[in-house]
Amino acid sequence: MKRRDLLKGLAIAPFSERLRPDEQRQTSNTPPAGMRSDLSDVKTDPDWVLQVRGEMPVTREVAYLQTASFGPSPVRVVSRVRELMEHQLKGPAVPVSARQLQEAEDDCRPLVARFLGARQEEVTLAHNTTEGLNIVLWSMDWKPGDEIILSNQEHPALLIPSYNLLSRFKVNYRRASIDLNEDVVASVLKQVSPRTRLVAISHVSRRSGRVIPARELASALHSRGIRLLLDGAQAAGNIRFRFDDLGADYYSLCGHKWLLGPKGTAALLIRKDLLEKTPVSYTGAHSQKSYDEEGHLEWHPDGRRFEYGTRAQFNFGGFAEALRWLESIGTDEIFDRIQRLSLQAGMVIRSSKKFELASPLSDSERSGIVVVRLPAGSSGEEVFQKLAQLDRIVVSPLEDPRNLRISLHFFNTWKEFETLMSRLDHYC
Ligand SMILES: Cc1ncc(COP(=O)(O)O)c(C=O)c1O
Repeated sequence: MKRRDLLKGLAIAPFSERLRPDEQRQTSNTPPAGMRSDLSDVKTDPDWVLQVRGEMPVTREVAYLQTASFGPSPVRVVSRVRELMEHQLKGPAVPVSARQLQEAEDDCRPLVARFLGARQEEVTLAHNTTEGLNIVLWSMDWKPGDEIILSNQEHPALLIPSYNLLSRFKVNYRRASIDLNEDVVASVLKQVSPRTRLVAISHVSRRSGRVIPARELASALHSRGIRLLLDGAQAAGNIRFRFDDLGADYYSLCGHKWLLGPKGTAALLIRKDLLEKTPVSYTGAHSQKSYDEEGHLEWHPDGRRFEYGTRAQFNFGGFAEALRWLESIGTDEIFDRIQRLSLQAGMVIRSSKKFELASPLSDSERSGIVVVRLPAGSSGEEVFQKLAQLDRIVVSPLEDPRNLRISLHFFNTWKEFETLMSRLDHYC
């Protein structure tokens, strides 16, 4: 049989035809006792989901279950970036182009603020989550022996700058466990010492999808005079929250994952009352409200003081367009759908005899990241490769060689998840 025919058979055969009776039981839609009982059937795709998929060409090519790595953008974001890139490359100093590019960047800040429940003054546009994290980490007046607390599940985006702080300033880092079933606040507080200056931790774990109790953590830390920096790379656009409600001091996020914007877009949110208490480290043209040749400098009164130099404005135009699109779909619809899909998917995996669920199921801790643990002897990396090459299903392998991360965003369908589970059953 030709490989193309094989592909066709694998990817397109209806899932129900391949289900064992026990699998059919596993896909039951009944929520477990104690779970939300208002779940409507995720198995039927609502019209609005079909419509948004129509605007996302990648959904016709693959089952895209990898938003936690990089989110796919809808056509209108691609078009907006193309249009602005043309201005940027063709004649960026031509007044009409310069104006369009500047407006595209300026439009982005209020949209970020509105989407994330922050004030516009609190927004700094950055290029990736790591940049936002570094702005905060380098704003502190570190003394040798000071301490920073991280979790045991952080991305190199936070780990590597912390190693650097150790080598540059002798700032020690400690790691608090946020493993499933761990009491996160107690676990972090156990690491607190009189030298703790900052806790820097993911709002949603990239390894387990767990949402940490940010509000409780912020208030426990504030009562001890410690600031909280949240890495929201996996949270923004994945779970419902408002920055002004979290109590976190700093929040770094990117546009290129769950917000479906272009790579090279991000934002740092700094609580308004901390702006003046957050010294600027990297700066240059455009950070200032005014300056002169004699040493006078006045920062912008808002988050723009951390922005400097010539920037890829076309990308921020794309980020803004992605946010506009998400708003037009409706945040309630988006977050409800993610919650429903991840609950149902988690239940299917949890009731499986072959696979384990390595992500939380409760409403307060669940996100669109669902982690499936493969049986002993299976390799996540190998299965990931087979899924991508033979089935056109894109997921992500994780550091734990038996764990696979499934990202369920609002545009994904139940059928995609079912097909994935069927292929996993075949490969493991
Ligand atoms: C939790 C977390 N933080 C930070 C990053 C890195 O983000 P960026 O490339 O935007 O700096 C990632 C990327 O996967 C992540 O999952």
